[in-house]
Amino acid sequence: MATLNVALVGQGFMGRTHSNAWGQVNRFFKPPLQAVMHTVFGQAEENPKLFADNWGWKNHTTDWESLVRSPEIGLVDIVTPNYMHAPPAKAAIAAGKACACEKPIAGSLSDAREMVEAARKANVKTFVWFNYRRCPAVGLAHRLVKEGRLGDIRHVRAAYLQDWADDSVPLLWRFDKSLAGSGAHGDLNAHIIDMARFVTGQEIAEVSGAISETFIKERTKTSGVSSGGIVSGQAGSASKGPVTVDDAVLFLARFSGGAVGSFEAARQATGNQNRNTLELNGTKGAIKFDFERMNELQFYDATLPRAVQGWTTIMCTHGGDHPYVGNWWPDAHLIGYEHGFVNQAYDILRVLGGQEPTFPIPDFNDAYQTQRVLEAAMIAATEGHSVKLDQVK
Ligand SMILES: NC(=O)c1ccc[n+]([C@@H]2O[C@H](COP(=O)([O-])OP(=O)(O)OC[C@H]3O[C@@H](n4cnc5c(N)ncnc54)[C@H](O)[C@@H]3O)[C@@H](O)[C@H]2O)c1
Repeated sequence: MATLNVALVGQGFMGRTHSNAWGQVNRFFKPPLQAVMHTVFGQAEENPKLFADNWGWKNHTTDWESLVRSPEIGLVDIVTPNYMHAPPAKAAIAAGKACACEKPIAGSLSDAREMVEAARKANVKTFVWFNYRRCPAVGLAHRLVKEGRLGDIRHVRAAYLQDWADDSVPLLWRFDKSLAGSGAHGDLNAHIIDMARFVTGQEIAEVSGAISETFIKERTKTSGVSSGGIVSGQAGSASKGPVTVDDAVLFLARFSGGAVGSFEAARQATGNQNRNTLELNGTKGAIKFDFERMNELQFYDATLPRAVQGWTTIMCTHGGDHPYVGNWWPDAHLIGYEHGFVNQAYDILRVLGGQEPTFPIPDFNDAYQTQRVLEAAMIAATEGHSVKLDQVK
């Protein structure tokens, strides 16, 4: 079988999920290319050798610039903080490599635009890891909408709520605008904007009513390297630095197909640990997804006789009927967070091997459309007026 040498740039939280994905994909799936875990980049103080040995990378390096240009590499996979997406992506693309990048595509709209332009000029394949598209329940929601089972979509209600960011959490890169671009907005709204676009098949045409808030204005400065989770690094000293991003952003949206929607991202929504939710109400039916119960999709069929209408909980765990799961365990043996990443690695290998992905997979240009919505919402929040997306390029 043809092989594809993969280079991974970064070895934090996403470094672990992607290493797991590249390691598992050829065991559970039969893509047209075999992924070879060629080289991982980490910063010297992170001990890239230890990481490489643990996860099965053949080589390790502290020099990402040489790595992304190496003639031995076919795909460069980027899992660094948002400000560090564009530099390795543009270098890899200039060297003719296919490039995969974590979400949001970049920390700023201008970085994202440059990445799209570079990929267009070089005519290379690109991918962005909006991994929730690869949950079987989200895939089923996409199919139900496409088959017309919901009729015309009237309402989109999306929220991504977490509660990890209390005042004990130090000043990670996630709280620094120059490194992250934004806070909960780019981190969490990016996911639900992408998911809403994917499931409805509609673009967001206008945003309004946006609110951005930073509840905790300063945090203890930190030192040290990623421990592989969201909260990592050690509190370096008692001194504090300013938080320059949002803790929460909410906004309203009009969709190209006539639906109206609401979006909410928050990191201090106590009681909601990883509640990534999407609800759609259409003229013929409705769906609800909640990542905290990721194996299930709620479906309401309004075409049934009124006497028997009601919410149905569908376990999306049946091979053949539900996407991806047939490659995992026997029917009804649940899957988890990491499987979305392996499923995405499979679809990347399908595309690079000349096949169609299981579902549309976002490339840089697709992720740029999500970034435009993020930008429009920030303008709406800052300037206090509605913003039409055709004004945000
Ligand atoms: N898809 C998802 O669900 C999901 C979840 C979490 C994070 N992410 C995204 O993944 C990316 C990385 O997040 P993370 O949680 O893995 O971060 P992390 O802090 O755990 O790891 C970041 C890695 O990048 C390296 N790095 C940092 N600054 C660097 C620099 N200047 N040059 C080279 N390397 C540098 C670090 O050494 C570390 O290996 C972000 O874009 C984030 O938004 C996506």
